[in-house]
Amino acid sequence: METRFALSIAPMLDLTDRHFRYFARLLSKEILLYTEMVTANAILHNKPERLLEYNKEEHPIALQLAGSSPRDLAECAKIGEDFGYDEINLNCGCPSERVQSGSFGACLMREPNLVAECVAAMQNAVKIPVSVKTRIGIDNDDSWEFFLNFVESIAETGCKYFIIHARKAWLKGLSPKENRTIPPLNYETVYRLKETHPDWNVVLNGGVKNLDEAKEILQKVDGVMIGRAAYETPWILADESCVRMDIVEKYRPYAEQQIKRGVPSHMVFKPLIGLFHGVPNAKKYRMMLNKLVPPTTLL
Ligand SMILES: Cc1cc2nc3c(=O)[nH]c(=O)nc-3n(C[C@H](O)[C@H](O)[C@H](O)COP(=O)(O)O)c2cc1C
Repeated sequence: METRFALSIAPMLDLTDRHFRYFARLLSKEILLYTEMVTANAILHNKPERLLEYNKEEHPIALQLAGSSPRDLAECAKIGEDFGYDEINLNCGCPSERVQSGSFGACLMREPNLVAECVAAMQNAVKIPVSVKTRIGIDNDDSWEFFLNFVESIAETGCKYFIIHARKAWLKGLSPKENRTIPPLNYETVYRLKETHPDWNVVLNGGVKNLDEAKEILQKVDGVMIGRAAYETPWILADESCVRMDIVEKYRPYAEQQIKRGVPSHMVFKPLIGLFHGVPNAKKYRMMLNKLVPPTTLL
């Protein structure tokens, strides 16, 4: 399968909002950006513009949906396509209690047939690609067979585009944060999936710190998705021609426009916090930004 994007930034609730995405796009023209997870219920019961609006500069951009009703997800996928998103992604990897009580996210790994129905309905509703983001297992269902059966059930619908967070999740006993660090990373399972299905588009996610690591991994799979490192140290994404203060200057008119629209300034400037990570005099720059962003909103 032809790879569309070698690199992407992970969907991260409360982090990859439209402001962060606008900022990330200033750093890299190539990378595919994902929205935060948006539940189908939220889209269907609110004004979708409030949740789905973005700046056209953010393209290419994928909308991540969460839900487990084929009909609702199909409707939301179509709404997303009409908003101009370039891809629709289904979340089958989030282990939070709140998400489990809504029967979506990682607990769907135990319901491959339902997920296949959801994905089939979403694909029928749109012309843009549909992808699935998942883990390599949940709880004690962490065998290769369990994982393979899950993804192969989905692939029968024609969807062969998977983003794999290369660790399992514990649905009880660990917080979402712990579920991103305690279960060990296992890249071999993701490589094995690509070897088993060379024609699939397999994207590896989890623990990737910079583009050098990503390049290594890209020898074995089609794509690499970076989450926390992209937020905490966004400079790793920068195209060679980028200069930090130029990025701030380019972001400024956008920030002013957003603030004029009534967005609180700390939300607009929060994405810039990581920009000076590790540079000499970083403190000076951070103090400049701290004046704009209350400390409670920092990572
Ligand atoms: C604050 C935060 C929020 C997250 N929200 C989502 C989400 O909305 N949807 C999702 O699929 N994964 C979510 N994740 C998981 C990331 O997409 C990613 O799978 C995980 O952080 C592992 O990648 P990394 O090691 O590169 O950060 C979130 C992660 C973080 C740190």
